[in-house]
Amino acid sequence: MCGIVGYVGHRQALDVVMGGLRRLEYRGYDSTGVGLVDGDRIAWAKKAGKLANLDAVLEGNALPASTTGIGHTRWATHGAPTDANAHPHLDAADRVAVVHNGIIENFMVLRAELEAAGYEFLSETDTEVVVHLLHRELQQQDDLSEAVRAVCRRLEGAFTLVFADALNPGVVVGARRNSPLVVGRGEGENFLGSDVAAFIDYTAEAIELGQDQVVTITADAIDVTDFHGNPAETTAYTVDWDVTAAEKGGYEWFMTKEIEEQPKAVADTLLGRLDQDGHLQLDEMRLTDDELREIDKIIVIACGTASYAGLVAKYAIEHWTRIPCEVELASEFRYRDPIIDRSTLVVAISQSGETMDTLMAIRYARQQRARVLSICNTNGSTIPRESDAVIYTHAGPEVAVASTKGFLSQVVACYLLGLYLAQAKGVKYGDEISSIIDELHQVPAGIQRMIDEGDQVRKLAAELVDRRSFLFLGRHVGFPVALEGALKLKELAYVHAEGFAAGELKHGPIALVEKGLPMFVVVPPRARDQLQEKILSNIQEVRARGAYTIVLVEDGDDSVVPFADVVIRLPKVPTLLQPLVATVPLQIFACELAELLGHDVDQPRNLAKSVTVE
Ligand code: F6R
Repeated sequence: MCGIVGYVGHRQALDVVMGGLRRLEYRGYDSTGVGLVDGDRIAWAKKAGKLANLDAVLEGNALPASTTGIGHTRWATHGAPTDANAHPHLDAADRVAVVHNGIIENFMVLRAELEAAGYEFLSETDTEVVVHLLHRELQQQDDLSEAVRAVCRRLEGAFTLVFADALNPGVVVGARRNSPLVVGRGEGENFLGSDVAAFIDYTAEAIELGQDQVVTITADAIDVTDFHGNPAETTAYTVDWDVTAAEKGGYEWFMTKEIEEQPKAVADTLLGRLDQDGHLQLDEMRLTDDELREIDKIIVIACGTASYAGLVAKYAIEHWTRIPCEVELASEFRYRDPIIDRSTLVVAISQSGETMDTLMAIRYARQQRARVLSICNTNGSTIPRESDAVIYTHAGPEVAVASTKGFLSQVVACYLLGLYLAQAKGVKYGDEISSIIDELHQVPAGIQRMIDEGDQVRKLAAELVDRRSFLFLGRHVGFPVALEGALKLKELAYVHAEGFAAGELKHGPIALVEKGLPMFVVVPPRARDQLQEKILSNIQEVRARGAYTIVLVEDGDDSVVPFADVVIRLPKVPTLLQPLVATVPLQIFACELAELLGHDVDQPRNLAKSVTVE
């Protein structure tokens, strides 16, 4: 959500900034803008809508050549996505420009103060107060970095801010609090970005900024301080994925590409987790076995798809560790006064590592003295940085807004955590753990098979393209799979879709069933006799009422065939691992239906990849 780029160097800043914004498109946005230093003023252009609209403005009205610039893709929070509310925002003389991600919580007070001092506001945004504050500060002193620090000290809330000042040419200043900003280090050029995708075309050398830091870049220098001007510690790292990983690689959609990358994402997440004695090792666990042995309760917190990964994990974690495990939506967690203490392990699952609801929940958990472990796909992001321990998923960049490989790799990482806890507590023997790890290693082949057999699901999507309602049923770990199948369909195809625990049908949802209603049913493996039999009855109940049943069932289980309109075969896997294969056809179905309906598969309406507001 909101993409930011800043550049100082030897290239045309407009090209670098527009290229960076294109790479950040995946974050979701609804207006765009750029600002370039041009003599004693900032030349700028901004436009509501997608980057193509800004391209059209720039074609009709070329901006001057410049080697210092900033750019922004905005996802509206305060004020509608209009031209006036788009960033950058400038002072009355067009001397300074600012782009912003986040929310300035005290903007009303600041706006009143600035209006009283004679400042005129042209937008409805919270951001505009920042540029006027800076303008006022620059009346007292010329040093842009010093002025930015003074402004930051007055702001409350979450912000990444990037500034350009025509009277400080060749300098771009950034600041961050509770919102992401990374620095790209080049040769005779430097970059700022919401994430490394903004500058990955030019450099893989990045610097992670800490909380409440201000960074000043010129073509040859990078200087980082806290909000009071004290030199600050930073961490440099080299980005381990290249440009092609962030491109579509010949696929029509990032989502299709990412679905197909799932066997690798799962395999990579499992890679290197056993030491030479066959013991599980987790690189950034940072919690000792003694600390883990003290854990008597686990609370998984996450949002959306990540929370469904948590729901799947609960079954495995409780079964393997015998530690009670709750799963809670991050946005609800801290408002219900949860009972947590030093012996509670809070597990935060987040693909992006920037989801504000999840970040706020872990901060609350840490205040209550709980230990926090995050499961995250984005190196250097805020959630792992603020956690006591981390398990990184190794899914590679996930660009499509709808999470696919993120989800499967989160489930795998949760399973690694469950097994690690079982190992530390000594409630599972080493050979039991190794045999589950072996089974996990077989899963990528099963996922690959579901991808290879995707045409069956694509044909089904074509057949059902005019349906406006779908239901999904599952039991045990199949229940979160049903929830995930329904969420994917809602967000991509914009149709009504709901997932239920099959046992709940008779308590209400069965009233929805009518002739021809498509119902996906995830059948547990036969090894779990009771579950399988129970869901068989559920299929018969809905079929008797006219539902069109699409049944996902393991190879060799023919008991459901008489009651299924469509049978989707799944490879035989242990019950707890079935979500890793059963989710794949549901992803493909949602993706195909969205495409057939003419929707933007990668950027569904109203959604953002990285949800950095609460
Ligand atoms: C759905 C989806 C979202 C995310 C949720 C959490 O396809 O992608 O529901 O799962 O916004 O995002 P992260 O995992 O980045 O915290």
